[in-house]
Amino acid sequence: MKTPDDALQRISYLKTDRGEIPVYASGIVEQDESAYTKTDHQVWQQLYQRQRALLPGRACDEFLNGLEALNLGPDRIPSFAETNVLLHRQTGWRLVAVNGLLPDLRFFELLASKQFPVTWWIRKPAEIDYISEPDLFHDFFGHVPLLANPVFGDYLQAYGAGGVKAAGLDALAYLARLYWYTVEFGLIQTKAGLRIYGAGILSSKGESVYSLDSKAPNRIGFELQRLMQTRYRIDSYQQSYFVINSFQQLFEATAPDFTPVYQQLADRPTLAARAITDSDLVLQRGTGEGFAELGDV
Ligand code: PHE
Ligand code: FE
Repeated sequence: MKTPDDALQRISYLKTDRGEIPVYASGIVEQDESAYTKTDHQVWQQLYQRQRALLPGRACDEFLNGLEALNLGPDRIPSFAETNVLLHRQTGWRLVAVNGLLPDLRFFELLASKQFPVTWWIRKPAEIDYISEPDLFHDFFGHVPLLANPVFGDYLQAYGAGGVKAAGLDALAYLARLYWYTVEFGLIQTKAGLRIYGAGILSSKGESVYSLDSKAPNRIGFELQRLMQTRYRIDSYQQSYFVINSFQQLFEATAPDFTPVYQQLADRPTLAARAITDSDLVLQRGTGEGFAELGDV
């Protein structure tokens, strides 16, 4: 199916004797809006309404403003093409539809060129509460609203460029931790209180409550090298959350060249997801209740 943003997804042309054939970036497909069933739209609606009701007083203002600025509502699965018109006007970002996860380098290259990959399919009703793979609800509802924020958008673009560079430096584990503890599971301190900006939290009903209200996890002030040493959980809620004071802080802390940072980190041990160190800016020392000892990634 041709959508209005078809041209945006075409990254080059191949010249043949029969004219030009569009060549698509690896892993990038088109969102076929006509392929969604009534059930698909209902799943979106149910998840959207449930999450949206939880977010006042929990999600940061930048996220809520993004939902509104991009006109994202519960009625139906959003059209990537329609969202792209608004998003591109605001921050220069565009969404591209994908079948699922991409190879690291491909992912970094897309981010570096302000293209965010969004899985086009949505989970089944039986998977409403939990799905191990990122689907459209996680990718779209969780990640896209913040792309409308210029500072966060610049951070994510810089992250992509940094990833392309790190791929040659054997430093991908450090960048994976940074992504995990900021883009996916980040918290932000605001005048009104602690708020969520991480997409992994904002697309999860349980963790949207747990990350702010539970006494079990640690909440630690953001410090780049400390965070990059910290392993994480992929099978449960996080045992530690890192808290930024502003997106500007995040952008500035990650702006310097990481090459010397990677060299220093190579001589340091990794830290357990549940660890607290003497130099941490501890906002809350978690009780650790219910934590599994093993299983950090
Ligand atoms: N400044 C980092 C580097 O030089 C790039 C980067 C920016 C990485 C933002 C992550 C986040 O490698
Ligand atoms: Fe994600």
